[in-house]
Amino acid sequence: MAEKRISIHGQWTNRTVFILAATGSAVGLGNVWKFPYIAGENGGGTFVLVYLLCIALIGIPIMMAEILIGRRGKQSPINTMTALAKEEKRNPGWVWLGWMGVVAGFLILSYYSVIAGWAMSYVFRTAGGMFLGMTADGANSIFSDLVSDPERLLAWHTIFMVMTMIVVARGVKKGLERAVTLLMPLLFGLLVLIVIYSMTTGYFMQGVRFLFTPGPIDGKAILIAMGHAFFTLSLGMGAIMVYGSYLSDEHSITEASILIALADTTVALLAGMAIFPIVFANGLEPGSGPGLIFQTLPIAFGHMQGGTLVGVIFFTLLVFAAWTSAISLIEPAVAYLVENKGVNRIYASVWIGGFTWFVGLGTVFSFNIWEDKTLTIPYLFENLTFFDTLDYLTANIMLPLGGLFIALFAAWVMRKESTQQELKTYPVIYKVWRFLVRYITPVAVIVVFLKAVDAI
Ligand code: PHE
Repeated sequence: MAEKRISIHGQWTNRTVFILAATGSAVGLGNVWKFPYIAGENGGGTFVLVYLLCIALIGIPIMMAEILIGRRGKQSPINTMTALAKEEKRNPGWVWLGWMGVVAGFLILSYYSVIAGWAMSYVFRTAGGMFLGMTADGANSIFSDLVSDPERLLAWHTIFMVMTMIVVARGVKKGLERAVTLLMPLLFGLLVLIVIYSMTTGYFMQGVRFLFTPGPIDGKAILIAMGHAFFTLSLGMGAIMVYGSYLSDEHSITEASILIALADTTVALLAGMAIFPIVFANGLEPGSGPGLIFQTLPIAFGHMQGGTLVGVIFFTLLVFAAWTSAISLIEPAVAYLVENKGVNRIYASVWIGGFTWFVGLGTVFSFNIWEDKTLTIPYLFENLTFFDTLDYLTANIMLPLGGLFIALFAAWVMRKESTQQELKTYPVIYKVWRFLVRYITPVAVIVVFLKAVDAI
């Protein structure tokens, strides 16, 4: 029997709040900004299919594993790994998994914040009526004006990091809970509204076909699809684990995981269906990269009834969605500092946020003065900027690797009784889950890794 632990950071008020918080972490720029542009870059159809398969077969089982580990450990991922390894009488070296998550969180937030800054600046651009009657060329040049100006990017990046630090400093109850209620359903509603606009463009079916008709795909695109499944569900770095540690013991983990994954996937698909019809209606390139939503949505807002208002609300909600994800990216690190260094949350958030802000400068510059400075790692990628490199290393390598070891830990290191006791689910569901995390998930992740480097 495990010793009874309680989290020193507090607990979610109820299960709904946990689901909202975890959904708040999952739904973010990954769904609305990243999913459409990487689907576009990787040819749509098959990419989307692989992504959906990864969500179902890899994402949901790992999410369950991560929540159950977190809830059993009831501490920051670093200390949870130590505590559980000890409880199961296994090698304390598992603690490195917690550390890798903390590093991945820093790195992701450092560029996430810069992109969230773009969304913030678009709130003001839309409000100023800048997009009325917008053409594809106009939207393009407004976007390039923004990213080519390091000062503006820096200012927004700084504002976003400060916003994140404030919420994290306020803590689980006052900060995190309040920030997530209400906003998610609103974002959902507005996405539906934009999808309805896209239906009026005459190119809706073309967009849908692009997203769902299978075509050829290579090993690298499969890796990107799998990496995105981790990224979009916030898996593999301890964000969901630390949220799980604030969940009280009586709630069902299985149901929560399925709900979170469903909500997250729906938002991504809606974003795709909102954006691709606009891409085709305006002769734009689906593979035009990270600027995709900023080059398409303004056209929609510039032409629909009440578009200015819809646009302002939309970008505001996108900022909120990014905000609720950002806080989960540094929560593991903050919780660790509070536990081990005896500092308060304010101090921990300022230090960690400050450091992340600094790393973010690299991303700020990679869209302008460092645009030509690129990196090539043989077998993995060629000519990526600072931003692209960080994104590639975190989403496609660190998160899947973290997820793989989380699955191995839950499946092979923890005793059956321990995981059974945490999951408390129907025997059939438990069996299916255990089979997936023992065999399917690890093998799938390894196969995708090998395929990406052309080893198989
Ligand atoms: N899931 C978030 C998104 O899709 C990003 C994220 C990744 C958040 C990892 C936390 C941890 O935008």
